[in-house]
Amino acid sequence: MARLKQQYDSDGYFGIGIFHSAEEQNIGTLWRSAYILGASFIFTIGRKYRKQSSDVTKAWSRIPLYYYEDFDEFKKSIPYSSAIVAVEMTDTAVPLESFEHPKRAVYLLGNEADGLPPTVVSQCHKTVVIPGDYSLNVAVAGSIIIYDRGTKVKTSLPGRPG
Ligand SMILES: C[S@@+](CC[C@H](N)C(=O)[O-])C[C@H]1O[C@@H](n2cnc3c(N)ncnc32)[C@H](O)[C@@H]1O
Repeated sequence: MARLKQQYDSDGYFGIGIFHSAEEQNIGTLWRSAYILGASFIFTIGRKYRKQSSDVTKAWSRIPLYYYEDFDEFKKSIPYSSAIVAVEMTDTAVPLESFEHPKRAVYLLGNEADGLPPTVVSQCHKTVVIPGDYSLNVAVAGSIIIYDRGTKVKTSLPGRPG
């Protein structure tokens, strides 16, 4: 059999999404960051997204958004051999500075008012927290997490030499 000559930059991927987001704008902002910072897809659970006209990158036309009715449907649909990472302020979460991102990761953010329910966090494979006494805006939190991934995981950031 011939050997594979094609070279690949990266051997991983990630997606990111929000559980029961209450604000359309946060989904749009996260979508834009996700596209710019190298995500393969984004998703929402429990809320469909309606297009905003303000996104100059047209992120909606670059990477797909998936919609799941509830957490169970989402869990059944995640890509093979990928880890769900809860992004949440919990006592047992790993601080972002020392967090090791899984090669194949699906990051899950919580609702603007209530965060992720403990029953959802307990079903995720890992939990990561961004240091600070107050919670960040959900799209900001997601953007920081995936930027951090880009600095730690090989060639995860587009346009960067490996
Ligand atoms: C505005 S926060 C929810 C705050 C909510 N009032 C609470 O205390 O649970 C919305 C989401 O942003 C993310 N988030 C915000 N700040 C965070 C932090 N410091 N570390 C990890 N996730 C954070 C989490 O996914 C959270 O569920």
